[in-house]
Amino acid sequence: MKLPIRLSGMSLLAVLAVLACTKCRKMDMSNAATAREVVESSSFVNPLAVPAILAGVNATLTTQTGTAALGSGITVSALGYGSAPILGPTIRIRQGEQFNLAFSNNLTEPTNIHWHGLEVPAAQDGYPTDVTTPGGSFQYNFQVKNRPGTYWYHPHPDMATASQAYRGLAGFFLVSAPEEDALGLPTGEYDVPLVVQDKRLDGGLAYNPNTDDRSIGMFGESVLVNGTAGPVLGVATRTYRFRLLNGSNARIYNFALSTGAKFQLIGTDGGLLDAPQEISTILLASGERADVLVDFNGLVAGTELYLQSNVFAGTPSQGKQSFKILKFTVNRQEPDNFKLPASLMPVEALASSQAVATRSFNIGHMMEHGGMAGMIMHPLDGKTFDANRRDEVVKAGTVEIWEFDNTMGTETHPMHLHAGQFQVLERIGGRGIVQPWEKGWKDTVLAFPGEKVRIIVRFPDNKGKFVFHCHNLEHEDGGMMLNYEIQ
Ligand code: C2O
Ligand code: CU
Ligand code: CU
Repeated sequence: MKLPIRLSGMSLLAVLAVLACTKCRKMDMSNAATAREVVESSSFVNPLAVPAILAGVNATLTTQTGTAALGSGITVSALGYGSAPILGPTIRIRQGEQFNLAFSNNLTEPTNIHWHGLEVPAAQDGYPTDVTTPGGSFQYNFQVKNRPGTYWYHPHPDMATASQAYRGLAGFFLVSAPEEDALGLPTGEYDVPLVVQDKRLDGGLAYNPNTDDRSIGMFGESVLVNGTAGPVLGVATRTYRFRLLNGSNARIYNFALSTGAKFQLIGTDGGLLDAPQEISTILLASGERADVLVDFNGLVAGTELYLQSNVFAGTPSQGKQSFKILKFTVNRQEPDNFKLPASLMPVEALASSQAVATRSFNIGHMMEHGGMAGMIMHPLDGKTFDANRRDEVVKAGTVEIWEFDNTMGTETHPMHLHAGQFQVLERIGGRGIVQPWEKGWKDTVLAFPGEKVRIIVRFPDNKGKFVFHCHNLEHEDGGMMLNYEIQ
């Protein structure tokens, strides 16, 4: 694998020159690439894989290369954690527990683990240059502070996150707590994590992005769920909890049921909402999660329905297509004594009046074409990532408003903060509203071209250097990431 050498940060003059050049902007838009279309599976016949559960507070995990069978006779060489040839086990842990992980790297390239959404000390967070060399090991050790919910882990080495995540490295990290137990939500085989990822199987999972891929992100024509192609899940006539994770490099999904049926949203990135919300679609960008309850009551055995992605507007590069993702086959009658609770778990609302500062970041800068073949850089507020720079300094425990301004932009950017969770205050321009699935605590929020998204965050008491970045992984690796230090 060849990694491009990053140009040192763009100078202010260069930024101004780019902004002033409306001709370049126009050229860029007319040349805008569109995402590779999805080729829907012709037969959803492969039993959905469900990742093994890694329980206990003392765990061991090794990254390695293996051959993954995706179903329908498709095999690819992939990367996995533990004994999984692709993806990794689901870590299940209780809030408050101390997690100890003996991590080893059996790859031929450096890697690390970032605990996406978890509030962990800087040295545990998988900072891009904190890597474990091939053959090396590292001890992760942190207390799980987060609220009950759906988090995940994936590699985060500088300029290789996209490549390693694409080739298979990712897993769920599920936190539970007594408050959640008391709700009587579906558990065990009725609580199913679903990581949705598009892959380019003609390349056998090799990661070789071309110029367009580096510009709009790496899109594949095959949509896998938990590493299964053309997946089917047999379900009983009862309520299920599905934990949806968009683990794709760049593709956005507008999740819906093929019947158009409504379902209950009970959690977002940062865990349970204060109350369930009934909705019929959820738009999730790379990195975002949604915890939903789907009710199969009243369906006769043999009924087939799908989790699908509906068309959506807002970005020129994708959304024009609807496609099926996962088939549900109702295969048995079962009594369901589940009662939807009226309330779930309190969410403390942060108020603008608490904020001690507002910072605004321009995420609408045009990408840069670098001098080297195929190199595309994506600036964040006019800069590209430099591990040796300190871009922002904040104070532990204080509340701030951050604005991600894509008003002048032409690309789509899901913006993600490490270190802690935030709340979405408002969206100005574009869709103009905070969506139902953007309520509660979030760590990633989508800004379409023309949108400015304002978030409010209270920085945790974990001092040190963290990153924030675009979670389109090609944009991230293309430099769209900055540092912020909590003091
Ligand atoms: Cu899921 Cu910094 O990323
Ligand atoms: Cu993260
Ligand atoms: Cu982006």
